[in-house]
Amino acid sequence: MRLSTVLILATSLLSVGAHPLERASNNTVSLSITDASNGTAIPSTMHGVILETNINSGSDGGLYAELVYNRAFQVNGGSLDGWTAKGGSIVLSMDGPVSTALPAHLTLTPNGNGVAGISNGGFSGIALPAQTYVGSFYYKPANGSKNAGNVVTASLRSSSGTTYGSVPVKVAGVGPGQWKQFSFKITTSTAASNANNAIVLELPAGSTGSFSFNLISIFPPTFKQRGNGVRADIAQAFSDLKPGFIRLPGGNDIEGNSIPDRYIWNATIGPLVNRPGRNGTWQGYNTEGLGLMELLTFAQDIGAAPLLAFYAGYSLNGNVVPQSQLQPYIQSVLDELDFLFAGSNNQFGRLRIQNGQSAPYNVKNIEVGNEDFLDSSGSYKYRWPAFYSAMSKAYPNVDYVATTLQGISTPPTVDNHDYNTPKYFIDNFRRYDTVPRPGPKVFEAEFAVISDKDNSTNPFTDGRLQTSSVKSAVAENVFRISFERNADVVLGGCYAPVLQNVANVQWTPNLVLFDASKVVKSVSWYAQQIFGTNLGNMLLKSGATNANVTTVTAGGEGDGKIGNLYFVATKDTTNNHLIVKLANVDSNPITITGSVVGNTGSGKGTGSAYTVAAPGGVDPSTVTNTFANPNVVGIQQSTFAYNNHQWTFTVPGWGTSALVIPL
Ligand code: AHR
Repeated sequence: MRLSTVLILATSLLSVGAHPLERASNNTVSLSITDASNGTAIPSTMHGVILETNINSGSDGGLYAELVYNRAFQVNGGSLDGWTAKGGSIVLSMDGPVSTALPAHLTLTPNGNGVAGISNGGFSGIALPAQTYVGSFYYKPANGSKNAGNVVTASLRSSSGTTYGSVPVKVAGVGPGQWKQFSFKITTSTAASNANNAIVLELPAGSTGSFSFNLISIFPPTFKQRGNGVRADIAQAFSDLKPGFIRLPGGNDIEGNSIPDRYIWNATIGPLVNRPGRNGTWQGYNTEGLGLMELLTFAQDIGAAPLLAFYAGYSLNGNVVPQSQLQPYIQSVLDELDFLFAGSNNQFGRLRIQNGQSAPYNVKNIEVGNEDFLDSSGSYKYRWPAFYSAMSKAYPNVDYVATTLQGISTPPTVDNHDYNTPKYFIDNFRRYDTVPRPGPKVFEAEFAVISDKDNSTNPFTDGRLQTSSVKSAVAENVFRISFERNADVVLGGCYAPVLQNVANVQWTPNLVLFDASKVVKSVSWYAQQIFGTNLGNMLLKSGATNANVTTVTAGGEGDGKIGNLYFVATKDTTNNHLIVKLANVDSNPITITGSVVGNTGSGKGTGSAYTVAAPGGVDPSTVTNTFANPNVVGIQQSTFAYNNHQWTFTVPGWGTSALVIPL
């Protein structure tokens, strides 16, 4: 055990005490579950993820596997930020750009004393495992320049000068004043011991004149070996959640801080040299290297249904597109729909096919805007109907998701967002029991406990969490149980945000933390994982009693909750498995005896339990996985007997479990 782990647990033990949510508990529960051959279907989208671009360097500098920071000199309105020179001087030039989209480039003028080069240390360092890297750059020698050897040497090098790999790139066939792209591969045979490394491009000694570079890129091997792809370890952390849906690209990043900085879908596709990028909503610059097609490819690769957000005329500075000027924005989303779904007889369908995706994308849920309840002018009342009627007329088989119900008539689906305390999520357990049927359907596409202070007046500022705790994660699973119980109306929910580059943080807590070399899973990640990977497809009836509660009241004690225990029973009809999900917000363990009635199975076998919990007696709000101390909490696996249609299982105090029982 590391010293920091010892310190965390020691601190935790000191803080054991009465908890505001504690009530007198009855610790033995009888749970009756009725097996059936039909019932409410649970959508496969039930537990998802958000891939919110830009926030916490989650895309550039995160999931997007590009290792070079400011590869096209776009940061800070055009700059050499992140670049240094050796053996020469560098300037930012605008003369004869490589493309309209990339107006600025770096020009290197050797000083005549040996090798001249440029160097880039990545977003927050560059990890260099021993493997093959794929790189490229655009190169333009100025009139009258001489590259002594017609070569640019690309290297991966430590800050202390160790070269891990190097390759001479022949820069033949490029005339003075002309741009040409060159590609290379570097294979390293030794792993660097840390991330203090750089990519270096060098001109041979004796070179004279000046030489311009742009779009300097290097990728490690990517998830599923995709070109222009995503970082394998971060992608795996998404994939291991088995997310039913993935909401992208935002979040606020769809809106931009101003209308010109909004997400413009067609500026994110095609060759990188034609992607201008835009100012980041949360920080830095959005290269849009992880563009619409890369995002949808990632969704396909992890088997998640996209919940794709479209810009809908509201930006974060409060600027709104007036009703009279909305038409071009509506046309843009119609073009995007054509791009997703149309065939080769349509110009945007052709564009998709030309860019390598012949089949229409399998996108079933499209969100119109983001958090439009924040628009104090109330303009969603004209924007939603205008977008929705045009979009649903063109593509009626898509589920269109509104971002608020304020001022609009009932949409097919609405996206609710909740960031709050554990108490809030526990208190809201019955929210979806009582929302109007038949609709609208609900995506709870952003939720998280962000403050462990239950009586906080403002959870955004008071008691704000840096990382999720066992207490926060168990409360989130109470809310997830409420989704499954109400699967007739709730299409799914996801914790938000997911990604946090620990070197560049705008929002906490997050599901997955990372730096250049390492990925850490939060406690909330584990809590979501046990629910997402054990998903039934049919809701079963269940009810609980204990010494105090002997009759189940619909919508009351025994129905979905009893005392401090929350539960839902579902069935995986393919494998004939019963899946019981539990969240115990009591500080004491609760023992459940489950009986399956109306059984269709043999009534015996071995159940498997997956549990996330704090050590007994420890205040769950102090137990967390941090970047420095990542393995405090994981998933505890155990088995238990299922005999005579009965099983018994004990959920630890402040614990959450998924039980899988072969019927
Ligand atoms: O996930 C963080 C932010 O919270 C999202 O961008 C926004 O939609 C919400 O306000």
